[in-house]
Amino acid sequence: MHDFAGSDATFLWLRWFLYYLSQYPEAQERMAREIQETEEEIDLNDFSKISNRLVYCRAVIHEILRMSSLAGFGGPHYSDRDVKVKDWTIPAGTDIYPGMYLTMNDPDIWDNPRKFDPERFIVRNHGGDPSLNVPPAWMPFEPGPRICPGMKVAMDFMLLSVIKIVTEVKIEAIDDEDANKRKTEPLPQFIGMVLFLPPKHNFKITPLKKSQ
Ligand code: HEM
Repeated sequence: MHDFAGSDATFLWLRWFLYYLSQYPEAQERMAREIQETEEEIDLNDFSKISNRLVYCRAVIHEILRMSSLAGFGGPHYSDRDVKVKDWTIPAGTDIYPGMYLTMNDPDIWDNPRKFDPERFIVRNHGGDPSLNVPPAWMPFEPGPRICPGMKVAMDFMLLSVIKIVTEVKIEAIDDEDANKRKTEPLPQFIGMVLFLPPKHNFKITPLKKSQ
């Protein structure tokens, strides 16, 4: 990947997050409610305590990573020898791009993949507490031995950003006539070769009053 140890990718995720917040006010409100209900137990210096909580917030993070597929085709790799994959042989010297964007938007794997639906990552077993269920086809950090080594740091950063942003400000779309159209259509816009940008959109940020 051509970013510097994930800083571009992480910043880009933030841009996608602001985009989705502006498009889905109901998700924004639900995250704020979930955080409020858990607030007493959230210690931002100790993520281990909330690693199993904030299920909806984490489902939103997963859904944004899936839909945006922001590092959609990973970094360029190549085969240094002939490789057999099922019935195919990939000859030595072939350029290889992991098709994460395609896998994470494949209608044979995901129900209605262009629908923003964080619930797809939530399971409720026998009426128990909801928990996160992440299928193997979710691979924004790339599958296999070249998986992003910064994944854990990035996921913590994202959860921290969600908690800070959603509890302190409200994000609202403005002048956004295309919003409904974009909700169902693929959104690839490219920077260079591998990082995907969110669509251009305008939003306003309103600070939320802190309750005393
Ligand atoms: C949303 C955030 C991030 C995403 C989606 C992401 C995604 C990826 C992907 C797909 C790759 C594989 C590129 C390839 O094909 O070779 C990668 C590699 C890498 N990432 Fe991340 N990354 C993120 C954040 C981070 C962070 C926060 C760090 C560091 C703390 C980081 C460090 C690295 C490094 C060092 C590599 C190269 C590993 C190698 O060459 O084997 N990434 N990342």
